[in-house]
Amino acid sequence: GGDEQQSQDYLFKIVLLGDSSVGKSNLLARFARNEFFPNSKSTIGVEFQTQKLVIDGKEIKAQIWDTAGQERFRAVTSAYYRGAVGALLVYDITRRQTFDSVGRWLNELHAHSDMNVVTILIGNKTDLKHAREVSTAEGKALAEAQGLFFMETSAMDSSNVTAAFQTVVKEIY
Ligand code: GTP
Ligand code: MG
Repeated sequence: GGDEQQSQDYLFKIVLLGDSSVGKSNLLARFARNEFFPNSKSTIGVEFQTQKLVIDGKEIKAQIWDTAGQERFRAVTSAYYRGAVGALLVYDITRRQTFDSVGRWLNELHAHSDMNVVTILIGNKTDLKHAREVSTAEGKALAEAQGLFFMETSAMDSSNVTAAFQTVVKEIY
């Protein structure tokens, strides 16, 4: 294996996790291709995109994995997490239920990967200000309690999307 790997200074596997419809696939589409899909369908199985970043003059290739939030559409859990060094755990600031699921996703992450996996908690959909159900302070407090980085994003208007991925990659590096 390792075909392309040799020409890269670094290759980091990063996984997306969080409930269905929180915007995982659109965060990835925005970051990797500057695209957004207003009516995207649930992910089925697993997809990944690679994106190059330059940090401290080194080329870093982030291989970002995306699967479904819903159990029945998900990739094989152990294979999904294997080798991951970074994670973006996403909830939707307009649906408290997705915030309440964060603990469950963390348990799964820790059961299947190294405890040192660099993790950022992301409250997505900040463009929907009128529909907010989870405050920034609540997100921050949970992240602090769990030792996670924290950022609020919008895949729709691009706010903080690149910054969120860069935070994880920089910290791994
Ligand atoms: P699963 O694949 O089922 O786990 O869902 P997902 O987390 O990948 O969600 P997806 O990216 O497919 O987005 C779900 C819906 O939310 C889509 O209709 C997106 O257009 C919408 N969406 C995603 N991000 C944002 C955002 O930042 N703002 C708004 N307004 N809508 C968003
Ligand atoms: Mg998806």
